[in-house]
Parts: sequence; C-alpha cells; structure tokens
Amino acid sequence: MPRMIRTEDIAFFKSIVGDQLSLLDADLKHYGHDETEDLSFPPHIVLKPSDPKQISAILAYCHLNKIPVTPAGARTGLSGGALPIFGGVLLSMEKFNKILHIDEENHQVITEPGVITQVLQDAVKEKGLFYPPDPASKGSCSIGGNVAENSGGPKAVKYGVTNEYVLNLEVVLPTGEIIWTGANVLKNATGYNLTQLIVGSEGTLAVVTKIVLKLIPHPTHDLLMLVPFYNAEDACKAVSAIFMAGIIPSGLEFMERDALVWTQQFIGESSIRVADNHAAHLLIEVDGFDPELLMIDCEKIMTVLETFEHDEILFADTAAQKQTLWTLRRKAGEAVKAQSIYKEEDTVVPRYQLPELLHHIKRIGKKYGFQSVCYGHAGDGNLHVNIIKGTLSDEFWDNELSVAIRELFTEVVRMGGTISGEHGIGLVQKPYMDIAFPAVSLNIMREIKKVFDPNGILNPGKIF
Ligand code: LAC
Ligand code: ZN
Repeated sequence: MPRMIRTEDIAFFKSIVGDQLSLLDADLKHYGHDETEDLSFPPHIVLKPSDPKQISAILAYCHLNKIPVTPAGARTGLSGGALPIFGGVLLSMEKFNKILHIDEENHQVITEPGVITQVLQDAVKEKGLFYPPDPASKGSCSIGGNVAENSGGPKAVKYGVTNEYVLNLEVVLPTGEIIWTGANVLKNATGYNLTQLIVGSEGTLAVVTKIVLKLIPHPTHDLLMLVPFYNAEDACKAVSAIFMAGIIPSGLEFMERDALVWTQQFIGESSIRVADNHAAHLLIEVDGFDPELLMIDCEKIMTVLETFEHDEILFADTAAQKQTLWTLRRKAGEAVKAQSIYKEEDTVVPRYQLPELLHHIKRIGKKYGFQSVCYGHAGDGNLHVNIIKGTLSDEFWDNELSVAIRELFTEVVRMGGTISGEHGIGLVQKPYMDIAFPAVSLNIMREIKKVFDPNGILNPGKIF
C-alpha cells in the first residue's frame, strides 16, 4: 500500500522543483479530475517539473520511498488514466510545452509532451507538413497524453492513430534512469520495440519527456458531405460498402440522431435541418492534392449511397460550413455530458460488423432499460456508446449497469472487436479486461509492468 506524503518528502520535492509545487486544496482538487464522468481523486501534492533530470530525481526518490506518482498531461482523458487514485504525487507535464525541432529534411518533429496537439499540428502545417492524429479534444489535449493513450480521432481512418507516427521517445523509467527507446528512423528491426510498448501504456511504464514524430505532406484539398439516413443500421452498412468500392475517406463519422440534435442545442447551431425521420447521419470527408480526383471519389461514394435509403446529401461548400459540421461532430461528447450523468464506452469491431454492433447496443439497452446515444469513428468500426443515466435509479447505475456493460463487451469481443479503440482502459474499464484477454495474457502484461516498475509506484491501479 502506498504511504502518505511526509514533511521530509515535501522538503525533498522543493529541493528539486523549487516553487513549482502545490499543496493548496484548490490545486489538489483541480488536478484530481480529468474528463472522465464526474470522478475526483485529489493527489497529496502537485509537482510541475520542467526538465527530465528533475523527473529522474523525483522518480528515484519515490521508487525508494514507495510513493505513488501519477503523470498527467492536459487531463482530457476519458478512462481515468491520469487520476491519482492513491493520492501521492501528481506529476504535471505542463511545463514540457516546447516544440524542439521541426526537421523539414526528414519530415519529423521533436517535441516535448506538454505541447497541445493542435498547436503542434498548426506549427508543422506552416511548413506544409501534416501530423494527422486529431482527437476530438485536439485544441486542449497534449501530445504526451495522446502517446500515453494511443489516441485516434476522425483522421485515423485514413492516416492511422498516434502509434503510427511515434518513431522514438525519451523516457524516464520509474527507477530514475533516462533512456531513448529507439532511433529517429522510419524502419527499425533492432530488438524489441520499446517505443511501441510505451505508446498506449497509459503512463504506467515510464514518463515520456521527448517525442519524435513522423510527418507527411499536408493535403491541399478536401470535400465534406453529411448524409441523413432513415435507419441507423443502414448508415452503418454503408460504411463498409464505401471501402469495398475502393475509397479510403479521410473521415467517416457516424452520429445517431440524438447526438446530432443534442450537439446542435449545446452549441446553439440550427443551420442543419434534421427531419423527424432522420435516424442517423454519416459525415464523410475525402482529402488529397487533386480536386478533380476528389470529385471522382465523391461520385463513387454517391453511387454506393444510392443502394441505401437516405435523404438529401448536404455538401459543405464553404470553409465555414465544413467547420460547422466538424464542430457538430467534435462537440458531441461535451453535449452528451451536458445532458445527463453518463458512462461512455469506446467499443471497436471489424468495420463490417458495425451494424451488428449497433444492433446489440440497442438490444442490450432494451433488455436492461437504458437509453444510449452513439457516435464515433464508423470507418474504424469504433463507436462511442454513451449510456444515459437520465431517470435511472442510483441502485441500477451503481450495481447493475456493469452487468449490461459486460454483456455488451462480450458481444464486441465475440465479433472480433475489443473494449477500447482510443480512450484507453485507465481506471474505468479495468474491471472488464478479463473479457478482452485471458489470464495468461494479463499475466504477461503484469510481468512487463514489474520489469519497468518493480515497486509499482508509477500510475498505480490502472489497466489491471
Ligand atoms: C470523440 C471522442 C469522445 O470522438 O473520442 O468525440
Ligand atoms: Zn473518438
């Protein structure tokens, strides 16, 4: 069991970070939550180091004294990964906020982890370069948090998620050593891939202090359309049909009716007409360098869509309209949050199984009596399932809902899917890991954790 912070610990931390620490109640409360439901776990102390050597000293000390350390980025996570559930040290990475070098010759960027994802995207775009992973929270999340959770976002369907861009990492191990995990190269067959082991490890294996990312040329054109369907399962069926026609959209997002309408209300937007018989929408984007080729892609998509019943397609014809449509999609999570207490699941199945996934979500909802609102990255087979508390009893919410979630996850895994596509396991999905993995696989993960962190001080109580 972790021990409490003592006076001598505070003196030590002060000798390392100076005045970059806080014990104030308001700060502890502030750093004790992320964007996961309404969870709150205040740490005992907040440290804001600005140098890997400081982190090394802090971790070596905490390792020796068995003090829990929870690294945190911008705390926009949705699985509780950055919550200091045993108190101890909250290690905020916010001072690591510099882009160190944009290497135009090699199409790479070296950055610190506290840089906001969109700030990094904008900086490389100025050089004509593209860093595609774009979580809904890209304007507020940090690149280090994206590495920790292996974040995705709408562009993942064409360009892949965070791990496909991470070439090399400087990390501080829980025992205090500072290492680079790989090399700044596009190919690497040299030993075990420690870089990719750290990506998605949710801050449980090491603290990332520098990140080397691959970049690609920034596409110059895109086209965006919104397609209303009368039947939500039809919308899901259209998704794999588009790929089977040979198209790879740069965005293929699904929004159930409530997700769209609630978001319109939430952001005060009424220019998009949602008819009474619209059950769901697909937001489809294609991008590239040749506008004529993009038109041909759109025509092919429309030919595919003709085989499904849908209402009139809206083509975004101005940059402002594109912005509105993407805002409607990106704000869906916040809009749901504003409606009711909720639980958000992050189911992902092979793309063709998407209609079946939606069917089971609704079937299980009916069986247990809950309303769900789904939206997400349909092109990846990744649906965010928001279970709405509404008027459900606390008794059901606290005790029975997990049975329904188990049933849903069991179906997901049976379909060849898994229980998180991009939000991570963190704290809130931990009870369901046995559905995704047999005991032998979970034991391998636990043993790996022990090799990195023999005293279990780094982000304890997460994943398993
Ligand atoms: C989104 C976040 C919730 O896609 O992943 O909006
Ligand atoms: Zn998402």
